[in-house]
Amino acid sequence: MKDIHSYWAYIVLALLIITVVNAVIGLKQKKEFKDKNLRIGLFTLIVSHIQLLIGLGWYFMSPWYKALKDNGGEVMADKTARLMAVEHPIMMIIAIVLITIGWSKHKKKTEDAAKFKTFVIFYGLALVLILSRIPWNNWF
Ligand code: HEM
Repeated sequence: MKDIHSYWAYIVLALLIITVVNAVIGLKQKKEFKDKNLRIGLFTLIVSHIQLLIGLGWYFMSPWYKALKDNGGEVMADKTARLMAVEHPIMMIIAIVLITIGWSKHKKKTEDAAKFKTFVIFYGLALVLILSRIPWNNWF
């Protein structure tokens, strides 16, 4: 489970970066919001939801959850343990909520620029949150 979560993260990050960069280009160059743009955003939504499920599954099996339950004070006092047991899971859930909001908001927009802008804001913010709370030292 941990390995799947670790590898799936590459797909999530790659797609999220592609969606944001593509939306920034679309917005700046006043492009038409085509089917391709919709599909990139949708794949990112699906892939991040799968990561949420894998992450939740692993979390409740992991030593981090057990440590938090048994020894909450010590976990909170330790920077690495706090990142794994609390900060990373909470921040990733918030990021995936932002992606979901961005997806449903863009559907209600009628103008192409507004659709791109919604992706830039919500998917972009999610990307920043994810990058800020990935346990980089463990990953590489
Ligand atoms: C966009 C969503 C997410 C991304 C991109 C992501 C990415 C990552 C990465 C790159 C790692 C390091 C993996 C490694 O050590 O090789 C990791 C670890 C971890 N993630 Fe996530 N994650 C996401 C969501 C979640 C969620 C929603 C949870 C739980 C609710 C979660 C729980 C964990 C835990 C517990 C670890 C520590 C693994 C260990 O035992 O070392 N993740 N995550």
